[in-house]
Amino acid sequence: MKVAVLMGSDSDLSRLEGCLDHLRKLEINYEARVLSAHRTPEQLVKFVEDGSAGDVGVFICAAGGAAHLAGVVAAHTMRPVIGIPMDNPPLGGLDALLATVQMPGGIPVATVGAGGGGPVNAALCAARILALSDPALAARLDQFKEDMVAKVLAKDEKVRAATR
Ligand code: RP5
Repeated sequence: MKVAVLMGSDSDLSRLEGCLDHLRKLEINYEARVLSAHRTPEQLVKFVEDGSAGDVGVFICAAGGAAHLAGVVAAHTMRPVIGIPMDNPPLGGLDALLATVQMPGGIPVATVGAGGGGPVNAALCAARILALSDPALAARLDQFKEDMVAKVLAKDEKVRAATR
């Protein structure tokens, strides 16, 4: 199974590097596309329907402003959908956060944070979903977590040494 990473505009791409980077690190197949709920609605729905009938296990949807992308995708698939609100000016992502997270009951979108660790967490959340049926990926995720713990402990040691 692969992850579809959809973005509403190519202007979102630079802020999705953390997401794509972690999918690559975890050796997860993904397809990144620019498809907009507003500007290319027909192409978006076709991609979601084809992917849902095929090998897309999780949709990650990133959009800013009046961010309807994740919600529209969730309305057209039974696969899990993770929404990333883009922290665009002039409202800094609060608009996209509210549009993505406040879904009506029945159409779920798992929304990560706007900016900061949001894009990375979207990749990790998708990885955990796929890992339920992929033991090799589950092992890579365990290793990822162990590495993270080791990095934080090393930083702790450094700070303790510098502040003694
Ligand atoms: C949203 O509008 C996109 O996801 C993007 O975050 C925002 C601005 O798009 P552009 O005007 O830069 O193409 O749909």
